[in-house]
Amino acid sequence: MVQPTLEETKEMGKITVNGQSLDLPVITGSENEQAVDISKLRGKTGFITMDPGLGNSGSCTSAITFLDGERGILRYRGYSIEQLAESATYTEVAYLLIYGELPSKTQLDTFSKKLSAHQELPAGLEKIFDALPAGIHPMAALSIVTESLSGFYPKLTNPALSKEEMDEVIVTLMGIFPALTAACYRKSKGLPLIAPRKDLSYGANYLTMAFGLPAGKNAPDEVMVQAFRQLLILHADHEQNCSTSTVRVVGSSRANGFASVASGINALWGPLHGGANQAVIEMLEQIQKSGGEFSKYLAMAKDKNSTFRLMGFGHRVYKNFDPRSRIIKVACDKVLAKMGIKDPTLDLAKQLEAAALADDYFVARKLYPNVDFYSGIILRALGIPTEQFTVIFALGRLSGWLAHWKEMLESPEFRIVRPRQIYTGSTERPFVPLAARG
Ligand code: SDX
Repeated sequence: MVQPTLEETKEMGKITVNGQSLDLPVITGSENEQAVDISKLRGKTGFITMDPGLGNSGSCTSAITFLDGERGILRYRGYSIEQLAESATYTEVAYLLIYGELPSKTQLDTFSKKLSAHQELPAGLEKIFDALPAGIHPMAALSIVTESLSGFYPKLTNPALSKEEMDEVIVTLMGIFPALTAACYRKSKGLPLIAPRKDLSYGANYLTMAFGLPAGKNAPDEVMVQAFRQLLILHADHEQNCSTSTVRVVGSSRANGFASVASGINALWGPLHGGANQAVIEMLEQIQKSGGEFSKYLAMAKDKNSTFRLMGFGHRVYKNFDPRSRIIKVACDKVLAKMGIKDPTLDLAKQLEAAALADDYFVARKLYPNVDFYSGIILRALGIPTEQFTVIFALGRLSGWLAHWKEMLESPEFRIVRPRQIYTGSTERPFVPLAARG
C-alpha cells in the first residue's frame, strides 16, 4: 500500500516572535487540509505552541480516515461511510482500514481464515475473569484480559516486530476479540462461555457467544446481524480520537500491540468518549423516570455551573451532523419496526434532539447528535445490556486502533510521543528540613 506523499507546497507559513521571523513549511494533504509544520520552531526560536486538548494540532499524517467536520463527511481509505455501512461486511472494512485496500475474494478468504484460526480463547485465560471482583465494569475486565494476552503470546511482544509478527498481532487480536468481548458479558453474569463457530460472520459470532441462540435457531436473527454489522462498521475508525491517539502514544514507546490496545480500551471507557453510549441511555432513562420532561435537562446542559452535559451531543470535529448518527437513526426505526419493538426511549430521544437543534445554545455551538446518541437504542433493541455498550464500541473500534498502530510503526515520521509544557509552578527554593517546618 503506497502512503500518499504529502505535497510540501512552496507556500511557507511565517511566524514572528520577539521580533524574530521564521518561515515554516506548509503541509497540504490529499483533501487539501493544510498545516504549518512547527517541528523546527523550538530549536529556532525557543518558543513552543500551546493547544490544550490538541484541537488545533496535528499529531501525525495519516492515510486511513478522512473527516470533514463542517460538511459531516466520513470516509475510510476514500470510501464513504454510507456506502460501506450499506454494502460491506465488517471483516472487509477491517481489512480495508488495516491494509489500505478493499480485499479481493482470495485476500478476504485468507484474512477470514486467519481470524478464525485465532477465535478461541487461549487455555487459562478464563481463569483471569474468575479472579476479577464481582460487578467489575466490563470495560475494566476487557482491558485486563487484553493486556494479559502479552502473557499468552510472548513471542508477539518484542519491541521491533517484523512485518509478519505485526500481522500476527493484528490477526490474533482481531480473531480473539469477539470471544473476549462476549466473555466479558458471560462472566459478568456468571454464565458459561459459548464456543465460537467457524460458520458465522464476525458480528454473528459475537451475538451467539454473548447471548446464545433463540430456541430452534441455528444462527442469530438476520435483522440483528445486519444492524450489528452496521454498528461495527460505523464504530470502526475515526482518525485521531482520544482512544486511537492513546493507542498511538502507547505504541510509540514500542510497548507491544496488546498493551497499546488495552490502553485504548481504557481511554474509550470515559463518558466523554466511548462511554457516552451508555451515558446516553442512562440519561434518557433518568428523564423517563422523572416523567419525560426534559426541559430541565436542557437547562442543566446549558448551565455553566452544572457539570451536566447532554450526552450524545457535541463533537470535537463535527460541527454538522455526525454522518454515523444519521445512519443509526434510520436503522433504529427499521430494526425496531422489524422486531416489533415500540421503544418510548427512541421517541424521547427524537423529541430531545428536535428541542436541542431548535435551541440557540446548541445551534450557536454547532452541537449535533454524535454517534453515541442513537446507538444505545439499537443495542438495547438487540438485547444488549447497557453496561456492555462501550464493549461493543471497542469491538468495532479494534480494527481502527490496529490500523493506526501499524501505520504509526511503519511511518517514516515514527518517533516516541513526548509533548512539551509551560511550567507554572514554584521557582527554585531551598529545602526546608522537617524540624523547621513545624
Ligand atoms: C465520541 O473524537 C472522536 O472522534 C470521538 C468519537 C469517535 O468515534 O471516536 O466520535 C466518539 O467520543 C463521540 C463523543 C461522545 N461524547 C459525548 O456525547 C459526551 C457529551 N459531549 C461533550 O462532552 C463534548 O461535546 C465532547 C467531549 C464530545 C467534545 O468536547 P470539546 O470538543 O472539548 O468541546 P467543548 O467542551 O470545548 O465544547 C464547546 C462548547 C462549550 O461551551 P462554551 O464553553 O463554549 O460556552 O460547547 C459546550 C461546552 O460547554 N458543549 C456542550 C456539550 N458539548 C459541548 N454543552 C452541553 N452539552 C454537551 N454535550
